[in-house]
Amino acid sequence: MKFEYAERIKRLPPYLFAEIESLINKKKAEGVDLISLSIGDPDLPPPVFVVEALKTEVANLKNHNYSFSHGEAEFRMAVSEWYKKRFNVDLPQDQVVTLLGSKEGIANIARAFINPGDQVLVPDPSYPVYANGSTILCDGTSVPVPLLEKNGFRPDFEAIDAQKAKMLFLNYPNNPTAATVDKKFLKEAVNFAKDNNIILCYDNAYSEVTYDGYTAPSILEIDGATDVAIEFNSLSKTFNVTGDRIGFAAGNKQLVEGLTKIKSQIDSGPPVYTQKAAVKALQAYTSRAAPDFLKNNNQILQERRDILVDTLYKIGYKCEKPKATFYVWVNCNGDSMQFATKLLDVGVAVTPGIGFGKHGEGYARITFTQPKERIIEACNRIADAF
Ligand SMILES: Cc1ncc(COP(=O)(O)O)c(C=O)c1O
Repeated sequence: MKFEYAERIKRLPPYLFAEIESLINKKKAEGVDLISLSIGDPDLPPPVFVVEALKTEVANLKNHNYSFSHGEAEFRMAVSEWYKKRFNVDLPQDQVVTLLGSKEGIANIARAFINPGDQVLVPDPSYPVYANGSTILCDGTSVPVPLLEKNGFRPDFEAIDAQKAKMLFLNYPNNPTAATVDKKFLKEAVNFAKDNNIILCYDNAYSEVTYDGYTAPSILEIDGATDVAIEFNSLSKTFNVTGDRIGFAAGNKQLVEGLTKIKSQIDSGPPVYTQKAAVKALQAYTSRAAPDFLKNNNQILQERRDILVDTLYKIGYKCEKPKATFYVWVNCNGDSMQFATKLLDVGVAVTPGIGFGKHGEGYARITFTQPKERIIEACNRIADAF
């Protein structure tokens, strides 16, 4: 039997990582000691207190029933308190919805507000879910917004034809470019969304993975943001719990309600025990400052970042030390697939920039989610390759 895929599946662009993935698998099958600097999944463990909280909550037999599509009140309250402590933002609980990781919310928000053919402004390069899982799978039209190095990998709002746009995705600290922004930029973004009557979806998944004293802002810190914006965040990268699938969206009441309506027809929220453990995780914040475990993690990542960037610099690939995320976005002076293939030959896997969009060509994303010794070994191999 052969079944016909729906048109929306057929509209998904070719999966550009497939080629590099099959090369990676081939190397592994050959027994090559491959160092993977390609996946955005932290290698550091979750903090012990979070694992202990999970154990306790799993053991509670009352925590195994359905949750709610909008999540447990206790979790939404913890998110609201976190916004107050971390960003000094007052956020009523009904402006928060629990997510099965921020990816789920990003994918579902378009279902609530995008009609077939509606335009969605999607940064290029960017996390592929904005264009694919969200826009295309909701029958919207993805309109690329170039993120160029000369503009600090930020959109040039004046150059955007926004007349027909209904939604805009933004993500800082940014994957894949690792660019960061300040509140002045966020103010411009909010003004742009307001002037053009556009829903602003702000992805802040890396807000806590920061270095050199940089503190990432929330879009909700900006006056008037709750008129137009919804912010997505998650415990994934902050607490190294990517597999536990727990995140949240917060902001404009109608946007949160729309997302919740969609979710009520699809899922029943993350497990109650995960949400209860997540409450304890978020409560590790007592002020704006990062809790100790996070300071330690970021210190470890920062050291790796320095080793990687210094090596790249020495061999002629000049790139800035990112102030956030665990990515280095390196200008590889040419074909990004060729660059990645060349590194695979010496046993190092990186992600070719073209996989994140047309404007990602000429760059590669190198992740520092490997122990320091492996980063050093990868650096030696990279130096040998060039
Ligand atoms: C920019 C960005 N947003 C969102 C996510 C989704 O994270 P999660 O669904 O684990 O919260 C990721 C994951 O890599 C990401 O890079």
